Amino acid sequence: MRTYLVTGGAGFIGSNYIHYMFRKYDNEIKIINVDCLTYAGNLENLKEVENRDNYEFCKVDICDSEAINRIFQENEIDRVVHFAAESHVDRSIKNPDVFIKTNVLGTLVMLNAAKAAWELPDGTYKPDKKFLHVSTDEVYGSLEEEGTFFYETTPIDPHSPYSASKASSDMLVKSYIDTYHFPANITNCSNNYGPYQFPEKLIPLIINNALQGKKLPVYGDGKNVRDWLYVEDHAKAIDMVQEKGRIGQRYNIGGHNEKQNIEIINIILETLQDMLPEGDPRKELVSKDLITYVEDRKGHDRRYAIAPDKIRKEIGWYPETMFKEGIRKTIAWFFEHEDWMKNVTSGDYQKYYEEMYK
Ligand code: NAD
Ligand code: TYD
Repeated sequence: MRTYLVTGGAGFIGSNYIHYMFRKYDNEIKIINVDCLTYAGNLENLKEVENRDNYEFCKVDICDSEAINRIFQENEIDRVVHFAAESHVDRSIKNPDVFIKTNVLGTLVMLNAAKAAWELPDGTYKPDKKFLHVSTDEVYGSLEEEGTFFYETTPIDPHSPYSASKASSDMLVKSYIDTYHFPANITNCSNNYGPYQFPEKLIPLIINNALQGKKLPVYGDGKNVRDWLYVEDHAKAIDMVQEKGRIGQRYNIGGHNEKQNIEIINIILETLQDMLPEGDPRKELVSKDLITYVEDRKGHDRRYAIAPDKIRKEIGWYPETMFKEGIRKTIAWFFEHEDWMKNVTSGDYQKYYEEMYK
């Protein structure tokens, strides 16, 4: 049985990945989820799997090298899938320090622990050990012209403290590949959306606010472009890269689904109107009048667009979920999980929201 060490498994993409992996491999794998449960980590995301014999949760900070080394000593880890990170650009602009600590130093701890556990005395590695570093297209910076794309060969040019910390961690992983022949891959994915996404990010924030008749904050002119991918397609890509990718390679993952932020907001409002049944009081609240243009984000990247040619050609992955279908699935999930939304938007998040949008 293959044993996976998943970091950040209680977050948005990590929890979707864990669900995907148990659906796909059921009892053929074991997953150890290492997460220190920041504001973004939520064990409620994993209720359905918490009683499985082949699942274990460890509340550990990835910067704690002693605890991480212990997990490697006590378990024969075959795969590391490294999601754990501070992930929100706006928070990184307000408080960069924790981004460097977790995203850069935490990645170094993970690399060192895996290397120590897997390396043989002759400098080679135990067979079939793999480390996958989950990263973002934001490391490539911003595209200005339509029709241009990020390739794996595009120079790194991050602008926000978040993307700078992810670019730094990518470089660290690359240095371990180049220097120690460490068996790793890096994936750079575009913006994800889907179930369990924390409502500080555009899509769940708009869904949540619209249903309550709250203002929908649009940064700048609303014409910044993001390339949206349904989170389950990302989970599938990660698994395929780890099993079929060439060791040491970087793969871009993206949906070929570029949309301006204002288009996304309009699609959400139209879909909510369409999906809410007649007589539901929220139908009256959902309205384009809620759209409110606010001050632009500092250093706001204009456009992201991934060319997923390499992963398609070498591995056979392609985005399966069309945006129209993915957004309906996402909204349906939020309708069915009102309590989840209430729980994550109480307390500290409320304070952050008031401070951010005051
Ligand atoms: P998230 O913020 O929803 O989840 C992050 C998880 O990491 C949380 O469970 C949190 O508790 C945990 N964590 C944070 N600091 C930790 C620490 N020091 N030790 C242990 N656990 C810690 O993030 P996400 O959106 O699921 O993103 C996951 C990964 O994917 C990140 O590395 C991010 O850079 C990358 N990524 C995200 C997107 C996106 O659109 N969300 C796109 C491409 C890549
Ligand atoms: P976000 O979901 O924070 O992802 P990222 O910054 O990593 O791409 O933001 C997506 C886009 O939406 C980005 O261009 C910023 C914009 N945005 C708004 O216009 N209003 C908001 O309230 C938020 C959170 C984001």
